[in-house]
Amino acid sequence: MKGGLHGLRNKHVYLILIALACATVVVWRFEIPLFLTFILPPQSHVLWLSPDGKIKDKQVLEGENSPDQSEKGVDLEVPMNSLNTNSSVRNEEKRSSTNILDKEQEIPPNVTEVSDIKQVSEEKNSSKHGEKNLIAQMSSVKGEYENILATRVENQACNYARGKWVTNDSWPLYSGFGCKQWLSSMWACRLTQRKDFEYEKLRWQPKDCEMEDFTGSKFLRRMQNKTLAFIGDSLGRQQFQSLMCMITSGEERADVLDVGKEYGLVKARGAARPDGWAYRFTSTNTTILYYWSASLCGLEPLDMTNPTTDVAMHLDRPPAFLHHFLHKFDVLVLNTGHHWNRGKLKANRWVMYVGGVPNTNRKIADIAGAKNFTVHSIIEWVNSQLPKYPGLKAFYRSISPRHFFNGDWNTGGTCDNTTPLSGGKEVLQDEPSDHLAAGAVKGKQVKLLDITALSLLRDEGHKSRYSLKATPGAHDCLHWCLPGVPDTWNEILFAQL
Ligand SMILES: *[C@@H]1O[C@H](CO)[C@@H](O)[C@H](O)[C@H]1NC(C)=O
Ligand SMILES: *[C@@H]1O[C@H](CO)[C@@H](O)[C@H](O)[C@H]1NC(C)=O
Ligand SMILES: *[C@@H]1O[C@H](CO)[C@@H](O)[C@H](O)[C@H]1NC(C)=O
Ligand SMILES: *[C@@H]1O[C@H](CO)[C@@H](O)[C@H](O)[C@H]1NC(C)=O
Ligand SMILES: *[C@@H]1O[C@H](CO)[C@@H](O)[C@H](O)[C@H]1NC(C)=O
Ligand SMILES: *[C@@H]1O[C@H](CO)[C@@H](O)[C@H](O)[C@H]1NC(C)=O
Ligand SMILES: *[C@@H]1O[C@H](CO)[C@@H](O)[C@H](O)[C@H]1NC(C)=O
Repeated sequence: MKGGLHGLRNKHVYLILIALACATVVVWRFEIPLFLTFILPPQSHVLWLSPDGKIKDKQVLEGENSPDQSEKGVDLEVPMNSLNTNSSVRNEEKRSSTNILDKEQEIPPNVTEVSDIKQVSEEKNSSKHGEKNLIAQMSSVKGEYENILATRVENQACNYARGKWVTNDSWPLYSGFGCKQWLSSMWACRLTQRKDFEYEKLRWQPKDCEMEDFTGSKFLRRMQNKTLAFIGDSLGRQQFQSLMCMITSGEERADVLDVGKEYGLVKARGAARPDGWAYRFTSTNTTILYYWSASLCGLEPLDMTNPTTDVAMHLDRPPAFLHHFLHKFDVLVLNTGHHWNRGKLKANRWVMYVGGVPNTNRKIADIAGAKNFTVHSIIEWVNSQLPKYPGLKAFYRSISPRHFFNGDWNTGGTCDNTTPLSGGKEVLQDEPSDHLAAGAVKGKQVKLLDITALSLLRDEGHKSRYSLKATPGAHDCLHWCLPGVPDTWNEILFAQL
C-alpha cells in the first residue's frame, strides 16, 4: 500500500480506518462483538497500534488496574506470536505470561526498559482519552494496520508445532542424489553408505489445521521481488540448502544467479569458503541467502593487525551483516544454539562484551546466561527495527535437537536407530519445548518457528556415522540428512508466509 493512497481512495481508506477505530473502541469495551468475528479470528486479541508502530493488546489497558505491574511494565504486551486461538488456552497464556512477568521483575530494568515503561504508561493514558486519540493513532499507521491484521489472522489460525509424522509416498520433495547445485555432499545421506531411507518419506501433519503443500512455484510467486535471509549456524545452513532444493525440486537451474557479491559474500583470501551464499531466481526476482553467524552476536577483533587477536563478542549487538542488510530483507530466519559452549568460545577466542566493555555480570558470564542474554538481545533488537520495515516478517527458529545416545559428541555418543518414530510420532503439547526461545519472543512481533519438539521425534534422521568415504566417520547426531527434517521446518515456514 506504500505510496498508493491518493485522491478518492485516500478518503475511502480514511473512512475505513475511522470505522475500524470505532470498532476497536467497541471491542475494547465489550470483548468481541458478533459482527467482528467475521473479520477477526475467533477469540483474537484486539490489536492496538501505538504511535511507534508497536502492537499492544487490550491487556495493556486492563493493566491499568494494577499499577504495580504496569510500573514495572516489563511485559504488558501480549505475545503477537501466541499460537493458540482457543479461548480456554488463552487464559492459560495469560497466567503464564504473568509468571514470566514475575520472573522478569527480578531483573532491574536498564535504561531502555525504563523508557519502554514510560511509553506504555503514556499510551495507556492517551487511550483513556478515547476515540480522538485513537483515530489519530490509527491514521498515522494507515496501511500497516491491514498488513499486520492480515498477518495476525493467518498466523493465529494454527499451531503448526502440534501434530504428527505420517508416511507420505509423495515425499521427499527432491532427491538426495540430486540438488548438486546447492546440497553439500556431506549432508546428502544418499551419497553415503547409509542403506535405510524410510525416514525420507515422513511428512509432518499439524493437528489443528491443514498445512499448505509446499511447491517451488507457489513459493517463488509469493516471494516475487523479495528476499529471504537465513542467519545462523550450520543448522541454519542446512535449512537454507533444504529450501533451495525444495524450490528447485533438486533440478539444475540455469536461471538462478549467484548474487553473493551484492552482500559481500565472497571467499576471502585463504578462507575455506565465504561467510554465506546468496542466490537469485531471475524468473521472479526472488533472493534466498544464508549468512553464517554461529553466535548471532556482533563480533569485533580487538586488534585488527594481529591475526591471533581475541575477538569481542558483543552479546548485546546484532551481527554487522544483519545490521547492514536488514533493510533488504522481507523474510528473516534467525537461529543459534549449538556453539554456546566453553570449547567453541575458547577456540574462537571470543570474549564476552556487554555495553561495549568486557562483561562483568556473573549471571551473563555463565554460558547459558550468555546465550539467553544474546537471544533476548537480538530478538529485542530485530523487534525494535520492525516498525521501520512493516513488510518484514522475522522468525526466530527454535533449537534443533541433538540425539547423542550413550555419550556426547566427543565421548562416543551415537544415534544408530534406523526405525523411524520408535519414540513416538506425535506432539500434543501447546507450549514450545525451547523455553529460552519462547521466552525471548514473548511480547515481540518476531515469531517463533517452533521446530524443536517435532524434530526431537526424529533421532533416526541425523547424518549419524555415515560418511562419503568407505569407512564410517565420526558420529554426527546434530546435523540432519537432506532431504530430511529441515524440509519440514521450511514447509512450516512457508505456511506462515
Ligand atoms: C479449546 O481447548 C480446550 C482445552 O484445551 C478443548 O477441550 C476444546 O476442545 C478446545 N476448543 C476448540 C474449539 O479447539
Ligand atoms: C533470559 O534473559 C532475559 C532477558 O535478559 C531475562 O529476563 C530472563 O530472566 C533470562 N532467563 C534466564 C533463565 O536466565
Ligand atoms: C495523562 O493525560 C493527562 C490529560 O491529557 C495529562 O495531564 C497527564 O500528564 C497524562 N499523564 C501521563 C503519564 O502522560
Ligand atoms: C502427501 O503430501 C502431499 C504434499 O507433498 C499432500 O498433498 C498429500 O495430501 C499428502 N498425503 C497424505 C496422505 O497425507
Ligand atoms: C527486484 O526486487 C527488488 C526488491 O526486492 C527491486 O528493487 C528490483 O527493482 C527488482 N528488480 C527487477 C528486475 O524486477
Ligand atoms: C516486481 O518488480 C518489478 C520491477 O520493479 C515490477 O514491475 C513488478 O510489478 C513487481 N512485482 C511484484 C509482484 O511486486
Ligand atoms: C538494556 O537491555 C537491552 C535488552 O536486553 C539491551 O539491548 C541494552 O543494550 C541494555 N542497555 C544498557 C544500558 O545496558
